[in-house]
Amino acid sequence: MPDTPPNGPRHVAIIMDGNGRWATLRGRPRLFGHHAGARRVREIVEACPDLGVRYLTVFAFSTENWKRTQTEVAGLMKLFRRYIEREAKALLTAGVRVRFIGDRIRLDERLVRMMDDLELMTSGNDGLHLTIAINYGGRDEVTRAAKRLAYEIEAGRLTHKDVDAETLARFLDTRFLPDPDLVIRTSGEARISNFLLWQSAYAEYEFVDTLWPDFTAAEFGRVVAGYRARDRRFGAVRA
Ligand code: IPE
Ligand code: IPE
Ligand code: MG
Repeated sequence: MPDTPPNGPRHVAIIMDGNGRWATLRGRPRLFGHHAGARRVREIVEACPDLGVRYLTVFAFSTENWKRTQTEVAGLMKLFRRYIEREAKALLTAGVRVRFIGDRIRLDERLVRMMDDLELMTSGNDGLHLTIAINYGGRDEVTRAAKRLAYEIEAGRLTHKDVDAETLARFLDTRFLPDPDLVIRTSGEARISNFLLWQSAYAEYEFVDTLWPDFTAAEFGRVVAGYRARDRRFGAVRA
């Protein structure tokens, strides 16, 4: 896989939004949009190597998405299982390393088993690192990390003096990931909706109007090119 070009984003995170509206515009049920959205993921995954993107993280289901109808939630869970079933082989041969973030406790056992298997199966890959967020929420993740940290302190393996940003980050779901350089949200909404709150402290954001099922590799390439022109100062003053 080519190296990330100078000024290129190494880690891109995407809030894949707008599937429901895309379907409604066509007079179809929301799940029709989710299926179309799932097909887009492959195109974006395949575009990453040429753009020098080594880490791609996609938001598939939030901790708040349980508020949707039972039909939509069940349909999405089934879609995740189907996605894994259908894509596993192609991901493996393309050298993609797949990992999942989010709380698995509320997910059905069958899905969790498939997620574990795909992680294990691709664990030797070192091409694109694809991370899929399912039942993920930034606040939930930080809360779970704080709880585990507290447990380590209670057990005497750490003390309060060990608690700093670096230690806390080791307890996050994303412990194996660099921070995102660029966060893209489709569908015209300019909000974060609880995605990678801690990790995106210094990310660049790009909000595009395109609904996720219409988001092409060409548009992805344009957004990445736009990122390269930005001046990231991280609080400092350019020399
Ligand atoms: C994003 O599309 C996918 C998920 C949240 C699962 P939406 O389902 O939020 O689509 P809109 O925002 O209603 O159009
Ligand atoms: C964010 O989209 C979650 C995902 C894309 C998985 P939502 O559609 O759930 O976010 P809100 O409700 O518009 O904030
Ligand atoms: Mg939405």
